[in-house]
Amino acid sequence: MEKITGLTISEHKNSKRIINIDIENEIIEKLIFPFNKFDLTALELKPFTRFTIAKSLDDLTNNKLSKLMNFIIRDRSTGCFIIGHKNITKINDKFLVKLSTAIAHLIGIPNHDSMAGKYYARFVVKHEDKSDSYLRKAYRNMDLHTDGTYVKEITDWLLMSKIDEQNVEGGETAMLHLDDWEHCEDLFNDPIGKQNFLWGSPKSKNIDYKVEHPIFTSDERGRPNISYIDQFPEPKNMEQGNFLQRLSDGLEESKNKTITKLPVGSAIIANNYFWLHGRRPFKENKDLNRELLRIRGQFFKN
Ligand SMILES: [Fe+2]
Repeated sequence: MEKITGLTISEHKNSKRIINIDIENEIIEKLIFPFNKFDLTALELKPFTRFTIAKSLDDLTNNKLSKLMNFIIRDRSTGCFIIGHKNITKINDKFLVKLSTAIAHLIGIPNHDSMAGKYYARFVVKHEDKSDSYLRKAYRNMDLHTDGTYVKEITDWLLMSKIDEQNVEGGETAMLHLDDWEHCEDLFNDPIGKQNFLWGSPKSKNIDYKVEHPIFTSDERGRPNISYIDQFPEPKNMEQGNFLQRLSDGLEESKNKTITKLPVGSAIIANNYFWLHGRRPFKENKDLNRELLRIRGQFFKN
């Protein structure tokens, strides 16, 4: 593993494809001052300030952090990293929003998150839920999926940060890399997966249009990419319906998922073309509380 002063870089204990990047305390301490220069309103309303805090973070590693993150996220053999730090006592939720913003802006430009009306979304998973999607349903398995399936914006990557959690058992993150998936070849080679599917979304997502795209495409070297979520495709016929069922069963029964507990204060960033993500059900607890932040976006274009 590469050595960068101020960072500890290691392989994730459950997967060779996921890299852990621990930010050491000296960097966290040095971020407090530049991060205090902007409040969240400034970050939300003035996009350039997001780049200012991203530069503060990258400068503290002699610009090696951005190079490392961009390498991992594009590299087919990895494509995913978890970035965090050990000193969570010194930092609060606002600091974590800023840190997530800084990380995201070293990789690319966030898409507008229609659910939240800004470049990021914070949301809570609790015991009770009246929402119309699986996102906040604590006691249901959130099946493996990619993000951005029902929007026009390109979604190259996603970032999920854990802001806080209390009274949580279960709810682990499940990750699956397409190249580890037992059924990938079989389903990728089925022509139905390359047909256009229609994708809609429930009211809470605030998207008033539908999009069409296939489930499987190929990257520049012919390797499979996937864009799929169980809840939103609207099959046009029996063929498409049955294909989606096979796909869903094939994903959920995979033995090659990486199950990981994301620590509070950490973020997982994944390539959205060849990594699928999901969440295991939580153990029932009426005081259950988890707060997450998500940012989805596009790579910088040169
Ligand atoms: Fe997702």
